[in-house]
Amino acid sequence: MPLVPTFLYGTAWKEERSAALTELAIRCGFRAIDTANQRRHYFEAGVGEGLAAAYRAGIVTRDDLFLQTKFTYQRGQDHRLPYDAAATLAVQVAQSLASSLEHLATDRVDSFVLHGPSSGYDWTDHDAEVWEAMRKERDAGRTRLLGVSNVQLRHLEQMADTGTELPAFVQNRCFARLGWDREIRSFCRERGITYQGFSLLTANPEVLQHPPFIDLANQLGMAPAQVVFSFARAVGMLPLTGTTNAEHMKQDLASRELELPPELVQVIEAIAG
Ligand SMILES: NC(=O)c1ccc[n+]([C@@H]2O[C@H](COP(=O)([O-])OP(=O)(O)OC[C@H]3O[C@@H](n4cnc5c(N)ncnc54)[C@H](OP(=O)(O)O)[C@@H]3O)[C@@H](O)[C@H]2O)c1
Repeated sequence: MPLVPTFLYGTAWKEERSAALTELAIRCGFRAIDTANQRRHYFEAGVGEGLAAAYRAGIVTRDDLFLQTKFTYQRGQDHRLPYDAAATLAVQVAQSLASSLEHLATDRVDSFVLHGPSSGYDWTDHDAEVWEAMRKERDAGRTRLLGVSNVQLRHLEQMADTGTELPAFVQNRCFARLGWDREIRSFCRERGITYQGFSLLTANPEVLQHPPFIDLANQLGMAPAQVVFSFARAVGMLPLTGTTNAEHMKQDLASRELELPPELVQVIEAIAG
């Protein structure tokens, strides 16, 4: 598996279908899986069952896959915590990852992501403590890479200004009306950080339902979703898809073979923001 994959299959909100859909995604050709140890929105143990089924069927081995999970602060969790609520944040990070490794039946993940900073504005002391604990997990070999999610530019700038190690990945909801997260993508590009874009379809109905956009997709012989994913790749993003449908899985993956003319990439980049 290369250091950074070309498409991530997202396992949020799959509940009891998590195992079957993870296996299906691998059968359809996905080799990178995004999950989180946050039972409220993800069923990580179910994802692990899906991986086990794919291994048993001989479709892939662990080494063929890129597995990404997340540490989520208690504020983002329900009562089903993967750590001791009374423990320090550093211990919570270690417990959360240990539990993820158990769920996914592996001794290391490929990427471990801070699900979101503790404040919407600043990179706080709590984040610094969590990030330091995550770095220790990486140094101990339990994850290859580290990431942060749901960040503002200010968080990243504060990390950089305080000499904090920057993440390998930034994972953000990507709104077309914010120039497809232009400022953060630009920060990432300048520093060699891979930008992962999620909810590319669900966050942007005004683009996908825009008649000229649909005409454009028709002219290109592509589905609107494929145009969005091809665009995302053309501007340097690593996209996620959360589809539950085998045809859509294949369609989304096939977008990797479709190249948009550069002038069209510019038009789409400016379409809503
Ligand atoms: N870090 C975070 O805080 C965070 C937050 C949210 C999500 N995520 C990650 O991002 C992943 C994706 O998020 P998402 O589910 O919001 O993303 P999404 O891929 O934008 O949305 C999935 C929706 O798009 C539809 N879809 C996908 N491919 C399609 C196609 N080819 N044609 C038509 N419809 C298509 C799906 O319908 P069908 O099922 O019918 O195909 C589904 O309704 C999540 O699973 C999770 O891993 C992370």
